Amino acid sequence: MSHDCPHETLDAPVSTPGIAETDMSAIRSPDRRRVLRTLVQGTATLFSGLALPAQAQGMGGMMGGMMGQSGSKPIQPGLFARAMPIPPQMMGTMDAAGIRTYALKTTAGLHSELVSGMHTPTWGYNGAVLGPTLRVPQGKPLRFDIQNGLNQSTTVHWHGAQIPGVMDGGPHNLIAPGHSTSVTFTLDQPAASLWYHPHPDGRTGPQVFAGLAGFLWIDDGLDAQVGMPHTYGVDDLPVVIQDRRLDERGGLSYMTTMRDIMGMKGDHFLVNGVEQPYVEVPGQWVRLRLLNGSNARMYNLAFADNRPFHVVASDAGLLERPVEMTSLILANGERVEIMVDLRRMQGKRLVLRSHSAGVIPELNRMPMAADAYDHGHFDLLELRVGGPVGKAGQLPAKMASISALKANAPKRHFVLQGMDMGMMRRMMMGGGAPKSGPASGPGGMSLGVGGRDLFAINGTYMNMKVINERVKLGSTEIWTVANDGMMGHPFHLHGTSFQLLSRDGAPPPPHERGWKDVVLVRSGETVQLIARFDHPAGDDHPFMYHCHILEHEDNGMMGQFTVI
Ligand code: C2O
Ligand code: CU
Ligand code: CU
Repeated sequence: MSHDCPHETLDAPVSTPGIAETDMSAIRSPDRRRVLRTLVQGTATLFSGLALPAQAQGMGGMMGGMMGQSGSKPIQPGLFARAMPIPPQMMGTMDAAGIRTYALKTTAGLHSELVSGMHTPTWGYNGAVLGPTLRVPQGKPLRFDIQNGLNQSTTVHWHGAQIPGVMDGGPHNLIAPGHSTSVTFTLDQPAASLWYHPHPDGRTGPQVFAGLAGFLWIDDGLDAQVGMPHTYGVDDLPVVIQDRRLDERGGLSYMTTMRDIMGMKGDHFLVNGVEQPYVEVPGQWVRLRLLNGSNARMYNLAFADNRPFHVVASDAGLLERPVEMTSLILANGERVEIMVDLRRMQGKRLVLRSHSAGVIPELNRMPMAADAYDHGHFDLLELRVGGPVGKAGQLPAKMASISALKANAPKRHFVLQGMDMGMMRRMMMGGGAPKSGPASGPGGMSLGVGGRDLFAINGTYMNMKVINERVKLGSTEIWTVANDGMMGHPFHLHGTSFQLLSRDGAPPPPHERGWKDVVLVRSGETVQLIARFDHPAGDDHPFMYHCHILEHEDNGMMGQFTVI
């Protein structure tokens, strides 16, 4: 197995020229903002390449690698040559005890045609890539029988599920290669589009990149009751958005340049595992359930003709009422459900794309964390509108009722410290020991170098043996999450859903006023969220909170909390 280790390209540790060390954790707003801006200007110079001092010999090559953007070839218009796959639904089968049972197997050794004409070795659940859409009824006992067919340990994490820590599928729930496990739980929470993915410590990035991810939809019938589209694959569509990089032979290319440590981005845009596909939709209201399943790339979703759409759900449930928008940032791990009116669009085509330019680079202050695609726009999916079919859904005036959590709760503070000068120094020196482990990914894919101490929360790095926070079972808490780093970080916590109280002191935008489990915290921003902790997690199986950029999570930006 081979991968590009940063320290392999360097002869000796290099200090960062021209920039004084700043202890960011000591700086509070509004000063933090000013200092950040200064730091960024310094960094921009540092990374312009031209400003590199001549003595930074070893760094020349390294910067070349870092700045080498595999996404720098011209942005192609979408091809829309192949149909968007609709993952099969899995409804579960009743076992003797009346428990609805789902069988999942992580599967290696198969190929996918992610990109037309390329045969890519991938991993999937019950198939070559991605996984079935698990349809689960609210409030009913469920059992998942999971078999690990990989050559390495994995877990299956139920992202967004309000269940105890022991069932959560976090890093402490490893399933060894060739082994099986069963988990049983009941989802007593609002209907929502959750998802599942691996979560092994230091290995989540490569395992998701290899193809492991799927939807888990909780159904309670409310969507049908209020008249929303709900016919799977017809007017209610699963849309998993991901980017991938391939090598010349079609193999997945993971963490092969220096800049990938900031977050693995690719130059092929996949929807449900196929590059820039089309989908045939009826000429009526259509509901798209969008998941940003990408390791590191964020999207600013919009239709090419800028038509309005209506946001009907956030990560963990329906909103109270639809929110009309023309573009929306979807960060890693976030889901959003939108409805679009195609009643007068019969015979026409429209394109869902990412208008990244401006918006995406702007929420970062780390110039090299944005590639050519983040500075441009690119197509994701073409909708081909046909005649109306079946019973048409409609846009409801009112959906869920969401009662606000009581806001006079105790506070806990988190400071996200990604990509500061200290981190740069550690990265250049090799920073921490890569987590060793057997084997490689599909087709010999590099597994990268997870497990290093590069991105921190509250000055500490993920350590499986350390409980970072202890929360009282049944309590409600306000978590203040401040981003002192230069990149935007999507903050996620396990075991509960939350409500946003504020962004930089201001009320959250209307489409974020619902249940969420991931929140994007921009560089320099402070977000307040409130959550109730109703599910237990002990020292042996604590919950995680982490950045959902998987290369940040894998390299330290995660912490553990118990709920007892
Ligand atoms: Cu989607 Cu802790 O993960
Ligand atoms: Cu999660
Ligand atoms: Cu991050």
